[in-house]
Amino acid sequence: MTASADAKTITEVTQRLETLKQQLIYHGHRYYVLDDPEIPDVEYDRMFQELSTIEAQYPQLISPDSPSQRVGAAPLSEFTSVRHEMRMLSLDNAFSSEDMQAFDERIKDRLKSDATIEYACEPKFDGIAISLLYRDGVLVRGATRGDGETGEDITQNVRTIGSIPIRLMGEGYPANLEVRGEIYLPHKGFDALNKKALENGDKPFVNPRNAAAGSLRQLDSSITASRPLVMCAYSVGWYEGGELPDTHMAIIEKLGQWGFFISDQRRVVEGADGCLDYYQYLEKLRPSLPFDIDGIVFKVNSMALQQSLGFVSRAPRWAIAHKFPAQEEVTLLKDVEFQVGRTGAITPVAKLEPVFVGGVTVSNATLHNRDEVERLQIKIGDTVIVRRAGDVIPQIVSVVLSKRPEGAQSIHFPERCPVCQSPVEAKEGEAVYRCTGGFVCEAQRKEAIKHFASRNAMDVDGLGDKIVEQLVDNALIHSVADLFALKRDDVANLERMGEKSADNLLHALQESKNTTFARFIFSLGIREVGQATARNLAQYFGGLDSLRTASAEDLQEVDDVGPVVADFVVQFFAQEQNNAVVDALVAAGVHWQETEKVTPEVLPLNGQTFVLTGSLESMSRNDGKEILQNFGAKVSGSVSAKTDCLVAGPGAGSKLTKAESLGIKVIDEQAFLELIETLRS
Ligand code: IVH
Repeated sequence: MTASADAKTITEVTQRLETLKQQLIYHGHRYYVLDDPEIPDVEYDRMFQELSTIEAQYPQLISPDSPSQRVGAAPLSEFTSVRHEMRMLSLDNAFSSEDMQAFDERIKDRLKSDATIEYACEPKFDGIAISLLYRDGVLVRGATRGDGETGEDITQNVRTIGSIPIRLMGEGYPANLEVRGEIYLPHKGFDALNKKALENGDKPFVNPRNAAAGSLRQLDSSITASRPLVMCAYSVGWYEGGELPDTHMAIIEKLGQWGFFISDQRRVVEGADGCLDYYQYLEKLRPSLPFDIDGIVFKVNSMALQQSLGFVSRAPRWAIAHKFPAQEEVTLLKDVEFQVGRTGAITPVAKLEPVFVGGVTVSNATLHNRDEVERLQIKIGDTVIVRRAGDVIPQIVSVVLSKRPEGAQSIHFPERCPVCQSPVEAKEGEAVYRCTGGFVCEAQRKEAIKHFASRNAMDVDGLGDKIVEQLVDNALIHSVADLFALKRDDVANLERMGEKSADNLLHALQESKNTTFARFIFSLGIREVGQATARNLAQYFGGLDSLRTASAEDLQEVDDVGPVVADFVVQFFAQEQNNAVVDALVAAGVHWQETEKVTPEVLPLNGQTFVLTGSLESMSRNDGKEILQNFGAKVSGSVSAKTDCLVAGPGAGSKLTKAESLGIKVIDEQAFLELIETLRS
């Protein structure tokens, strides 16, 4: 009697456990792989708690594919070694388009064919190569590459990584399947990890790759579990007892269906030209990717062709890594200069022995502020590591202390502004030192004028930094208001100007007078008033007079305006000099359409999130963004489940794919223009 009741309970418990496991696997996949959770975290935690409780009661029911096995197991005393069923190879490198073309030629020669080759393209992740072995769909082993023949068994550690399935989803996978991929630490996780390290007085990691390697090499897997590592699957190594599709990309898609995270940037292209186009596409995307990549891997897409091409020594003939220029290099710090910004902030700038990094020659790098100089412990004469990623301003990552020469000089912050000699001050608790000279300081005036003319402000075409500097140096202008009184001859006599460019500039100045209230506010350069705040202020106050007379309390009624920003606005309009400039601008003819005071709720696109991708023919993406924002929409840079609509122009790529897979509304430029038209009427 009792025995049968128990047996029934066990069956029920086993069933419940199975249901929970399936649900946890499903929701874990939505969270870690698709980045699109369906349920709130607490709901997931509740299911997890129930699973743990049952497993604590019935330890005999714990299986290796249980999500509970992800949280980290008892620490190991050492890693055991693993022999790979199939060697893990490395890749040949290409450093130029010529190298890439030669690669494509070699392949065609070898295949004795002139037909265009189809290539699968993927980012080359800058992480750690990994091999995962599945038997009947259950993860049984995770191993590092090691020397390619033997690696280390890090099964306990890989189990803790959310994007690695511990049991495969779907069906049709071979009975024995070895999946390969790269484990990396996204920037966000890296920054958080280093922040914590600094707070605890520990040494920070040099880069995300080292941090990922360090996280995987932990004998205590609970440490690995606390690091937000990601794995992206990029190939199948060895398999038995089943079939796989006949192209690389179709295999990758399968891996996606079986629950692996696969690259959103994957593409199939035709021939060397297709590869070079992809290179340009990914090089542009690189700075905005949330993880480090150091190049692209191109692979012959047909598995049959891969087979016939085979290998040379340690690398396949059918694949190549086209490397991006290095983003970090070593050079010498020759000197430090101090620059004065628009708001008086004094920035120490490193003068470097010129070095080729991130695709350009770098001779200056920012040292940000005093805190950064202290953090780096940097001295003049030091050997330093410089990093330049994408369009980002070059930074100094660290100092090679072992190479510090005798007599290296400490860096002293100036007590007076290097430009106007006014005293330099730092507010309590601020790392930034500022020149107190305000408009007296020529450097601040120059920067204020450059900001006024810039694209997102008054957008004066052709009024570049060099021209502003000459205009101020030659005392042709003192403030932004003087710009509109410039004479043709004054301008034409400047260096690298001529009559034609002078006419163009005067014309552009004339044109810029017709602006929007939001741009006008932004162009004034009030501290902490960026584009978004300027737009909110414009919408709320509708006109100049109500903005000028607003109290700090009034201002704080505006979206995103807190006491600090409100105070900066009040201070700005409390200064006679600033009001005089504003009046002079209006008197010179700067104008905009006075808008009705509006609260965001009444705007037609309030609460909606748009994303723009690809190119637009009738306007720049920036203009499209501004129009949408004026109708109250939020414009985001990336597609997520929260996106309401994607505007996709020609050249749209991964954002379009993602929007389609999420079932998000996608419109083309024509439909976008029609939408604007409807909203306006
Ligand atoms: S395929 C036989 N694809 O690059 C070719 N490798 O030198 C096997 N890597 O350590 C590699 N991203 O871990 C391939 N999308 C990608 C990759 C990739 C990064 C790493 C790989 C290996 C190195 C090859």
